Amino acid sequence: MPFPFQQDFPLAPLNTFGLPAQARRYAEIQSPGQLVQLVRSGELEGERVIVLGGGSNVVLSGDLDATVLRICIRGRELIGSDDDHHFVRAGGGENWPDFVRWTLEMGWPGLENLSLIPGTVGAAPVQNIGAYGMEVYERFLLLEAVDLKSGAIISFSFDDCHFGYRDSVFKQEAAGRFVITAVTFRLPKRWTPLTRYLDVSRELAARGIIDPTPLQISDAIISIRQRKLPDQAIQGNAGSFFKNPVVSAECFDKLLARHPAIPSFRQLDGSIKLAAGWLIEEAGWKGRALGTVGVSADHALVLVNLGGATGADVLALADAVGRDVADRFGVHLEMEPILL
Ligand code: EPU
Repeated sequence: MPFPFQQDFPLAPLNTFGLPAQARRYAEIQSPGQLVQLVRSGELEGERVIVLGGGSNVVLSGDLDATVLRICIRGRELIGSDDDHHFVRAGGGENWPDFVRWTLEMGWPGLENLSLIPGTVGAAPVQNIGAYGMEVYERFLLLEAVDLKSGAIISFSFDDCHFGYRDSVFKQEAAGRFVITAVTFRLPKRWTPLTRYLDVSRELAARGIIDPTPLQISDAIISIRQRKLPDQAIQGNAGSFFKNPVVSAECFDKLLARHPAIPSFRQLDGSIKLAAGWLIEEAGWKGRALGTVGVSADHALVLVNLGGATGADVLALADAVGRDVADRFGVHLEMEPILL
């Protein structure tokens, strides 16, 4: 029996930017077995295949002459523990914020700093999601993925994933080749709070909390995010639109001489991470719009759909912002979401 694809399927409700696009073929995948069968049937041969999770980190440039697979694989469980860790496994289609909250309520802390990041469990390792002093690689054990070429189920260890800042093998060499069906996390039994990020320590202090529990950290982070980042349900967006640029110490010294207030974060290798939000605000773009797309007035790193935006509109604004930042600071901004 042929696979039950839907034709010319509208994707606007399935991407948080709310950009219009149609998929020539579309299907929802409920289990790894179903995906393996689909690959082995040969129906994907010679076909461009695009995988969607929560659609919260993509920019759709237009209609997709492709098969779009939305990963809806559910399930979450404690699969074991050792002296130091709980091992928790979740299906690639699980909602990330719900999953994080569930682990905390079950008494397995470790993911609280990543609370309320939109998206799915399967998408989390792809761009190595991060926030408030933590990246997901720090809690990662392994993942399972289906190879779209062979239909084999392959396990990826930490080393296999080549994690970097908002980056992994799944955005590089392996882009488009694998569908992540499950991720296993290693959560520390001897938990210590991670509250050195200024926004977090301030929020906890404002709440009069000195010795926070994991749930209190999660609550604080949820309210910081709700206050600082535009709500995707109200104003379509894909979170941070640009990566924070990393420059050499030499380049930074020159910038600092001309812009003494420039925020900077020294990296372990001596390079300096800059705040793209600050560069964009200084370039005068915060709260400004170009047609149907704007730079959020709440946070300059977020581009927002003001109503009726297309992918081309988003890219036009991104280009204008990028050019102004390059002219003013000589720094190149790299787009963070995946362009489809
Ligand atoms: N800033 C401004 N103006 C703005 C926004 C920010 O000047 O409008 C400056 C401030 O100096 C601020 C600094 O930028 O101190 C950093 O801002 P923030 O703490 O909001 O973090 P960010 O660097 O802009 C990164 C991640 C976010 C993550 C936050 C918190 C990237 C690309 N973004 O943003 O991740 O939530 O840190 O950890 O690394 C995402 O990836 O989609 C995302 C939202």
